[in-house]
Amino acid sequence: MKIRKAVVTAAGWGTRFLPAAKSQPKEMLLLVDKPVIQYVIEEAVASGIDQIILITALGKHAIENHFDRSFELEHILLQKGDEKRLQEVRRISDLASICYIRQKEQLGLGHAVSIAKDLVGNEPFALFLPDDLIAAEVPAMKQMLEVYERYGCSVIAVEPVPPEKTSAYGIVDPQQVEGRVFEVLSLIEKPNPEEAPSNLAIVGRYILTPEIFGLFEKVTPGAGGEIQLTDALRLLLEQQRIYAYQFEGTRYDTGEPLGLLKASIGYALNRPDLGPGFKEHLQQLDLSD
Ligand code: UTP
Repeated sequence: MKIRKAVVTAAGWGTRFLPAAKSQPKEMLLLVDKPVIQYVIEEAVASGIDQIILITALGKHAIENHFDRSFELEHILLQKGDEKRLQEVRRISDLASICYIRQKEQLGLGHAVSIAKDLVGNEPFALFLPDDLIAAEVPAMKQMLEVYERYGCSVIAVEPVPPEKTSAYGIVDPQQVEGRVFEVLSLIEKPNPEEAPSNLAIVGRYILTPEIFGLFEKVTPGAGGEIQLTDALRLLLEQQRIYAYQFEGTRYDTGEPLGLLKASIGYALNRPDLGPGFKEHLQQLDLSD
């Protein structure tokens, strides 16, 4: 079945970005000259998915405004004869068809996904965690869709992390199927290096079968009543195969300040209009202590 819909979870508090995230969504923080969330929606669209279900929360209106039309702004750009920016502003509002659902209480990632149930319906869907940005020649989700089409089961994006960092991620116990594709034998949340079955860490791109929705209510809530996606995935694994796919590309964790800084540098260096000047600036910096 073709994947037509993507769920994008953007309801988290973003406490690691305080004070910046106090009165604006962290998803609207800038990466060069675009908000982080726009890169994610563009990845979905470039992968052939243009029905987006965005999970938001109180105080996240800026996201909706960003993807809406702004007639005043268009009028001003038209009057100025700034055709290039006018086209860009219109392109953003025409990017995709986006529905918004408010998560009224931040009860965890699993809960955020669960409230998309009625809009997703009984079909497989893509899930994007906008903190993870993946710079890749072929969009990471497009790579995963090829795996989904070949095997017809849920697919989780993974990447190797240094063994001492396993305790920061969900880790899969993988059995290689071919090249970058692995069957998931089990999923372990944040294992110590000595308990980790591999160093393949789950990152924020998934293709999930709709059976996942029936499993969220079976998950025992953790600290603070949070319902974790990994717990539901573990239950799904008891019923169905799940594959892990080691995508090609560079992932940045823009959910924390150092990751956003690294992403800003990576994306800026790759921009033909900014890269050369920025590189020259970096080369002139005195990085000795
Ligand atoms: P995080 O665990 O990174 O939490 O969420 P957070 O609130 O975004 O950020 P910090 O830790 O306070 O700095 C992982 C993903 O799950 C979403 C977030 O928006 C992010 O995409 N999420 C998390 C929700 O949508 N709802 C929740 O209740 C929790």
